[in-house]
Amino acid sequence: MSEKRIIRIGLLGFGVVGQGVWKNIENNRQALEYRLGAQLRIDRIAVRDKTRFREVVVPEATYTEDPGSVVDDPSIDIVCELMGGTDKALELTRRALQMGKIVVTANKALICEHGEELFAIARRTGGHYFYEASVAGGIPIIKTIREALVANRFRLIFGILNGTSNYILTRMEREGLSFEETLGDARKLGYVEADESLDLDGIDAAHKTVILAYLAHGKWVRLEDIICEGIREITGEDIEIAGQLGYKIKLLGVIERDFESDQLCVRLHPALISEKEVIAGVDEVYNGVSVTGDVVGTTILIGRGAGQDATSSSVISDIADAVFTLQGAPEPVISEEDEAVYNKLADGLGIASKTALEGRYYLRLHVKDEKGVLASVSETLAKEQISFATVNQKENSDGTAILFLTTHETSEAAILRGLAGLTSTGLLGREPVMIRIFERS
Ligand code: HSE
Repeated sequence: MSEKRIIRIGLLGFGVVGQGVWKNIENNRQALEYRLGAQLRIDRIAVRDKTRFREVVVPEATYTEDPGSVVDDPSIDIVCELMGGTDKALELTRRALQMGKIVVTANKALICEHGEELFAIARRTGGHYFYEASVAGGIPIIKTIREALVANRFRLIFGILNGTSNYILTRMEREGLSFEETLGDARKLGYVEADESLDLDGIDAAHKTVILAYLAHGKWVRLEDIICEGIREITGEDIEIAGQLGYKIKLLGVIERDFESDQLCVRLHPALISEKEVIAGVDEVYNGVSVTGDVVGTTILIGRGAGQDATSSSVISDIADAVFTLQGAPEPVISEEDEAVYNKLADGLGIASKTALEGRYYLRLHVKDEKGVLASVSETLAKEQISFATVNQKENSDGTAILFLTTHETSEAAILRGLAGLTSTGLLGREPVMIRIFERS
C-alpha cells in the first residue's frame, strides 16, 4: 500500500474559524484523507498571544507569534489566512502569493479591497488564492458560480449575504422587537462583528456582493461606486406595513447585468421583497443566493451564512482544492493572450451609476397631522412624476402622523429629488426614510 502524501498546512489566526478548521479536520480525518488521497497536517499556527485560552487544544509547539515565519516556511504547502483585517493580512497574503504559494482565505474585506492586486500576483507567480469561505459562510456559492454554472452568463444574482442583519430583521418581524433589542441579543450570541458597522451598515454584505460581481462578470467594482446601505433605519412599523402589502424586508445584495446595454448594476441595501420569492423565506442567520444564468435558469442556494462550522466547512473545501492542485490536478491552461481576451470581455462593461436605478419605492414620512398634508406631499412628489401605489397612515398621540407610501415605477434620481423637495417644504418632522422595492426585471 503506497503511503499518502503529507500536505502541510499553516494557519494565520486561530480564532473561531481557525479552531473550527482544526476541529472539523480532526473529527472527520479518516474520510477526508480518503477523499483527498492525502494526509493533512496543520503544522504551524500563528497567533497574537500563545497563552490565551482556546476551546480547541493543540500541541504547544504548533504555535508561533510570528506569522511571517509560517508564510516563509518552505515545508508549508497551504497558508490559510484566517486572521481578518486588511493590514497585516494583506502584507502576508501578498508575500505568500509572491512566493507562488497557495493561500486559502475567509477574508472578504481583503478580497473586496485588494483582490485585483492579489489575483494578479497569483497569476504571475503561479500561486493560488482560494476564497470559498469569504462569501455566504458554508454555502458553496463560489464553486457553484465558477465551476458548476460555468456554461452561463449571469443576468441576475441576488440574495442575503449577512447573517447578523438577517437575524435582527427576522426577530424584529417575528417578535415585534425593536432594532436595538434584537441587536443586544445578536451581540450576546456573538454574531456581530467586532466592528459592528460592518454588519449594521451593510459593508460586510457589500464586500461579498463585490466579490460575487467579480466572479460572475470579471469586473472589480469599487465599494464607493455602489449603493451600500444597512438596516439601522428599519423599524417594526416598516416590517409590519411591508407584511400587509405582501412583502418582507431583507438586506439584499443585487448584481444585475443588462447584456444589451452592457451595464452592470451592483448594489446592497434593505429591500421590500415579495414574500413569494424563495429568498424572502430565508430567515435568522441563514444566507440565500439566487443565481439566474441564461443556460440553467434560476438556481437558489440556502444555508448557514456565518458561524464556526459553516465557515470552516468552506475553508476545508478550499483546502481540498488546494490538495488536488498540489497533486497535479489539471487546471485550465491560461496564456497571457487568453488573459487579455478574457479581460477585454469586461472592458466595455459599464458600471451603472448609483442614481441610474429604476423601480418602485417605499417611503416613510413623519408629518404633522394636519389638513392638506397628504395633498402637499402628493403635489411635491408629483413634480417629479412620482405617483402613489398605496398609502397607509398612523396617527401619533403628539399630533404627528406617519405616512407609509409605496410608489409606482419611478427612478432613484426622481425619488432623491422628491425627498429633497419634501424636506425643504418643512412638512416633515424628521428625515424621510426610503426603502427600495426589489422586483425581478
Ligand atoms: N458578520 C458576518 C455575517 C459573518 O453576519 O454574515 C460571516 O461573514
